[in-house]
Amino acid sequence: MTDPIYVTDALIAEDIDAYLAQHERKSLLRFITCGSVDDGKSTLIGRLLYDSKMIFEDQLAALEADSRRVGTQGQEIDFALLVDGLAAEREQGITIDVAYRFFTTEKRKFIVADTPGHEQYTRNMVTGASTADLAVILIDARKGVLTQTRRHSFLAHLLGIRHIVLAVNKMDLVGYDKAVFDRIALAYRAFASEIGITNFTAIPISGFKGDNITALSPNTPWFKGPALIEHLESVDVGGAADEAKPFRMPVQWVNRPNLDFRGFSGQVASGRVAPDDAIRILPGGKTTTVSRIVTMDGDLSEAVAGQSVTLTLADEIDCSRGDVIAAADAPPEAADQFEATLVWMADEAMIPGRAYWLKLATQSVSATVQAPKYEINVNTLDRLAAKTLELNGIGVVEVSTDRPIVFEAYADNPALGGFILIDKLTNATVAAGMLHFSLRRAQNVHWQATDIDREMRADLKNQRPALLWFTGLSGSGKSTIANLVEKKLHRMNRHSFLLDGDNVRHGLNKDLGFTEADRIENIRRVGEVAKLMTDAGLIVITAFISPFRAEREMVRAMLPEGEFIEIFIDTPLAEAERRDVKGLYKKARAGQLKNFTGIDSPYEVPENPEIRIDTTDMTPEQAAELIVERLLG
Ligand code: ADX
Repeated sequence: MTDPIYVTDALIAEDIDAYLAQHERKSLLRFITCGSVDDGKSTLIGRLLYDSKMIFEDQLAALEADSRRVGTQGQEIDFALLVDGLAAEREQGITIDVAYRFFTTEKRKFIVADTPGHEQYTRNMVTGASTADLAVILIDARKGVLTQTRRHSFLAHLLGIRHIVLAVNKMDLVGYDKAVFDRIALAYRAFASEIGITNFTAIPISGFKGDNITALSPNTPWFKGPALIEHLESVDVGGAADEAKPFRMPVQWVNRPNLDFRGFSGQVASGRVAPDDAIRILPGGKTTTVSRIVTMDGDLSEAVAGQSVTLTLADEIDCSRGDVIAAADAPPEAADQFEATLVWMADEAMIPGRAYWLKLATQSVSATVQAPKYEINVNTLDRLAAKTLELNGIGVVEVSTDRPIVFEAYADNPALGGFILIDKLTNATVAAGMLHFSLRRAQNVHWQATDIDREMRADLKNQRPALLWFTGLSGSGKSTIANLVEKKLHRMNRHSFLLDGDNVRHGLNKDLGFTEADRIENIRRVGEVAKLMTDAGLIVITAFISPFRAEREMVRAMLPEGEFIEIFIDTPLAEAERRDVKGLYKKARAGQLKNFTGIDSPYEVPENPEIRIDTTDMTPEQAAELIVERLLG
């Protein structure tokens, strides 16, 4: 946090405990400021901190410990210096996250998420907005409504922020002209109503001069108020609406200190709960009643939205982290296919078909996203055709998860409808999403249990199923070695099936080429087919370049532990190119073949393959020998 402190509250100096207690009781408003780069955010925030006789809340403890800093009462700091300090600090922190500033007035405490205005930092805006009750959209009075104003308003609305303040800033630079203010408010109203913002409060301000910040300014006699701080102090952001919804609590962890106690801890996302209430545990669907509501401060007779509690249940039923405890008579749905709005926040574009981690409430699943149905142009709100979403892109997509998740439409319940996507390899958060509804497809298709299972099929063949997954560059020797392996297995009376890239691309996958998306789909289909074949009890051998780690890991995750055996046919590019059995490298080098693996399309080397074959070190025959040995030996 910035160092300078401006303190006028006499109570702090006299009795810090009383001061803290007084402030403890005040309500908290979390808000976000957003707008374009030069709209004057730093100045406004500086002004709010300065005029509200701010004190940084996280420094209260330090104040308590360090009485010298409290000693000089009313130590004024220079306004310009404060603003410079804030701006510099934010620039430094820009790539890390959002700067959260704490300040307080007599009526309320505030946490403001100060997000950078540059286009590339939309992700920070989303991070800041995800916990905010209110958004202050800043507009430079000389410039009016800009792309960034629209983008941020759209995001704020998407993310469920119900209170919008349109702060028309730099009014001093347009001579406090009412006509300018009215024109901007009108233009904004037109845009806002199109995206579903029905209500906002427009305030003409000057962050620099302080007009209409704490009190109404004599420079705008035509403006009847409220002043900005006044509005922030009085806007009602109570959780009454959340409490009126049906009860839901995503389970954060299972609390089992000893055999006599089994409690389920989490934050009540909506509604209220009391002992003896009938509840249902999802996605399983089992019902029981609540026994106790346990907290650090003793048992409660009721808990409401926002509270963190531990519930004990009347029956010993299955319930673990990620499950949702809900009102028995009004449970949310569970599904594995959805339509959602996605805001892409990573430099690397979205890859349709790739598996990402999806986190929703306390649930974490593997999910794939299809190419967008459409992308939204935030300026015109037009729906554009798109193959992917780039940085800052907002689109409507279909998402499928590898198992059902409990959810609600974001519009009904943000706690169960908002999710993020995480890149499995880098662990970076790449997108924020809002679920609309589940797709019928998923709702009406149920897994059909069959009487003959995979064990029985394998037993009949007298073998254990396995998937020998060959990966390596084109021409590395995958097909050759795979073919020898299958011959050996056959001779040993093993039931096998070889799926080879070139062959599968003649039939099942003849609609696919070699773009990143097509290769991902190629591997997804082959993975599914291979899985069915292992269910049939077969030893499946696949020979595909399968250049991406993420998809190889996706197939691994589809099979029971230990059944997926990754075999890296490690032939250096130079060697594969020297052999050039199909003459394709020559073509690729000549520019006649695009997206060729190793030339202008990447190959991600396996990090931990079960078997690595160095083809410069052994013959195909020796390699096959070694693989069969590892499989059956
Ligand atoms: S993968 O990348 O999607 O796994 P796959 O193994 O199915 O590839 O197909 C690779 C085979 O297709 C190569 O052995 C080669 O014969 C042929 N091929 C044709 N064009 C390309 C290309 N651009 N890149 C790689 N292989 C290609």
